[in-house]
Amino acid sequence: MTARVTVRGVAPYDVVIGRGLDDQITPMLPAADRVAVIHTDSLAAYAARVAGQLRQSGFDVLPLVVPDAEAGKQLSVAGECWEALGAAGFTRNDAVVTVGGGAVTDLGGWVAAAWLRGVRVVHVPTTLLGMVDAAVGGKTAINTSAGKNLVGAFHPPAGVICDLDVLDTLPRADYVAGLAEVIKAGFIADPTILQLIESDPAAATTPQAPFAPEIIQRSVAVKAKVVGEDLTEQGLREILNYGHTLGHAIEKSEQYRWRHGDAVAVGMIFAAELGRSAGSLDDATVARHRAILEGVGLPTAYDGTPWEQLRATMAVDKKSRGTRLRFVVLDRLAAPRILDSPPEHALSQAFSVVTGKAAQ
Ligand code: GLY
Repeated sequence: MTARVTVRGVAPYDVVIGRGLDDQITPMLPAADRVAVIHTDSLAAYAARVAGQLRQSGFDVLPLVVPDAEAGKQLSVAGECWEALGAAGFTRNDAVVTVGGGAVTDLGGWVAAAWLRGVRVVHVPTTLLGMVDAAVGGKTAINTSAGKNLVGAFHPPAGVICDLDVLDTLPRADYVAGLAEVIKAGFIADPTILQLIESDPAAATTPQAPFAPEIIQRSVAVKAKVVGEDLTEQGLREILNYGHTLGHAIEKSEQYRWRHGDAVAVGMIFAAELGRSAGSLDDATVARHRAILEGVGLPTAYDGTPWEQLRATMAVDKKSRGTRLRFVVLDRLAAPRILDSPPEHALSQAFSVVTGKAAQ
């Protein structure tokens, strides 16, 4: 069954979720003559299938192969893409299609956002994380030597195609890491997601789970609602960063060798603890975090970097204001809010739970 979630805003667009969706891309590209398909070498076969479909529909297709992961999110790579678009005579009518995970979405989205001050982009995410997070909401970015995602723009796509067929060949660990964002959506907004996963945690770790389409659709719907109301992160969109403040600090400390979702899982344990000690989150919901994350095999502990160092890294998180730390916490299930400047003892207590050095 194919589902559609509409992202509202100035230029509404659909996220299509289902299987066998090759023919859904063309209708998202009205008026284009040329389409650049940006992808990594590792996805060459799938990208060739997408390109073939586009050629059959009459488009001139320009394949652009970019390096994998963060290595692709560089100014030099974006520059090579723009040179290629220029050489092929891309006009404002033409379009970019990204085929890949979050890094390709970020890079390709930025290439499209800046070319001629913005051309149409359609994302075809190939990871669970891409489907439920990176491809939806219009964040685009490249990295600089000063940090990750520091140059970019909000450039919403013209559409997103979540073809679950591509998840069948995704490594299990990557799928499970994507579940962290799905579980996050459950805690901040849609507890039905949690109930579905809890009904069979082992099955939840694969896209063959009977409820996989539903949890993906529900997670996309959570994101769509938030970014539809607050595209440029003036307030509400910050709730999507539940678990991310410590998660980002862990990723940075581990030089991005940790999967994003794994770091966010640990970050949610921290945030839940903070919600309990500095807010009003009840013990049962705190325990539920650990149970569901461990149930699908996500990490819930981290002891690799001293607290002082992680705290200093969090102080330069994009969500911080001056030297004040800000976190997303839950007052109760599906009731997120910003916690500004929590007491230091609450922070270190929450971290000691993460390291396993405190009573829970
Ligand atoms: N990944 C968080 C956001 O899109 O705002």
